[in-house]
Amino acid sequence: MSRMAGDRPRVLSGIQPTADSFHLGNYIGAVRQWVALQETHDAFYCVVDLHALTNGEWDPAELRQRSRVAAAQLLAAGVDPHRCTLFVQSHVPEHTQLSWVLTCLTGMGEASRMTQYKDRVARYGAERIGVGMFTYPILQAADILIYRADQVPVGEDQRQHIELTRDLAQRFNHRFGDVLVVPEPYILKATGKILDLQDPTAKMSKSSESQAGVVDLLDEPAAITKKVKRAVTDTDTAVRYDPETKPGVSNLLTIFSVLTDRPVAELEAAYDGMGYGALKTDLAEAVVGFTSPLRERTLGWLDDSGRLDDVLAAGAAHARKVAAETLTHVYDAVGFIQPRE
Ligand code: TYM
Repeated sequence: MSRMAGDRPRVLSGIQPTADSFHLGNYIGAVRQWVALQETHDAFYCVVDLHALTNGEWDPAELRQRSRVAAAQLLAAGVDPHRCTLFVQSHVPEHTQLSWVLTCLTGMGEASRMTQYKDRVARYGAERIGVGMFTYPILQAADILIYRADQVPVGEDQRQHIELTRDLAQRFNHRFGDVLVVPEPYILKATGKILDLQDPTAKMSKSSESQAGVVDLLDEPAAITKKVKRAVTDTDTAVRYDPETKPGVSNLLTIFSVLTDRPVAELEAAYDGMGYGALKTDLAEAVVGFTSPLRERTLGWLDDSGRLDDVLAAGAAHARKVAAETLTHVYDAVGFIQPRE
């Protein structure tokens, strides 16, 4: 089923409130695109608190606080509730309702092939992982399909989950009629995978054992400067973009380019022959110049949590209207008796 002709294409994305701060990878890989897309798309963005339970261990007070900190950071980064629908996932119960239907259409095999799940099993052993970790990509599919989103702006690590979402939407439509929209991933090649500053073979990740190579948006300036200056590069000295042979330097150039709006080629030319020290010093300054005001704005939103909660309530009210409509069609299509008004 398509939405009315003439509508702007719709995007949906989510971010987990599982850390005290987002990191630069979250911002550059995803949130920055969210901000841009709200100008041209009908945008839905959510703090996925249901997903935050999947590791099986959470502290209720901490989760509540992190969910607000997550929303505050999104607002501070430029997600604008006048231009998009910003909400918290648990405020819209239709996500979990659709998730159950999709769960019953998902094969054990295809769920078992999700690399994030396989990585967890490899790391902790299957016995120590909850069922929620296993079914999590199905809930993610429901997040997307309940809004009939056309595109999903995410980092490269989410590509496989979007593929599963597409498969489930196609399977559903094939069996029950054209109810769901099959979404496309929206992943920018240049910025879809920001690397850990200490280990430029791995993505920057909140779950890395060492956080020395993870730059948090809410880090103090001194901590950020230290992390950037200690970034692992290589034994060469040439400031050159070459992700294959020089992943560390290339990653720094990518971050620098995004934060300063200067093309990578221009940066290569500017730092030609100057070595990595100068590049790191200036990059540290650029990162701090970006994060400091963002941090201030985040704290401003957190100081006024009544206003923050109002924004989230308005977002949830709108999101629920859209989600409820899809769910009605889904429930009808799969054969549930429509409840009396
Ligand atoms: P999460 O919370 O781990 O990450 C949020 C977003 O940040 C991106 N990202 C990165 N991008 C580039 N480089 C990196 N190093 C990097 N690290 C993280 C992620 O790709 C993501 O876009 N399952 C999702 C949350 C989710 C979701 C959804 C996303 C739940 N429902 C529906 C889209 C649509 C997750 O855990 O993202």
